[in-house]
Amino acid sequence: MDKEPAEEVKEKEVLICRCEEVSLADIEAAIDEGFITVDDVKRRTRAGMGLCQGRTCGKQVALLISKRTGIPLEQLLPSTARSPVRPEKMGIFEGEPDA
Ligand code: FES
Repeated sequence: MDKEPAEEVKEKEVLICRCEEVSLADIEAAIDEGFITVDDVKRRTRAGMGLCQGRTCGKQVALLISKRTGIPLEQLLPSTARSPVRPEKMGIFEGEPDA
């Protein structure tokens, strides 16, 4: 069953990555351009670079790549994650109590 054009437009606007506000259309466009790993899509769209580091969107991106390319989901490696970091004063390494 075909979708109404308005329904399809709304579906494309669905955010896959809430942290970086990357839509379904953005992800699909990246895949169609040849970005067919989770890390490729991450670098192209920023999906997975947000606060949750892809914990929310990573599996959805992998699923979309799998559906669009036919690559089995098991073959799509998870994206590389970075530990959250925050700036610290250098005094903390010297044992200064209020550093
Ligand atoms: S939802 Fe994509 S990085 Fe958080």
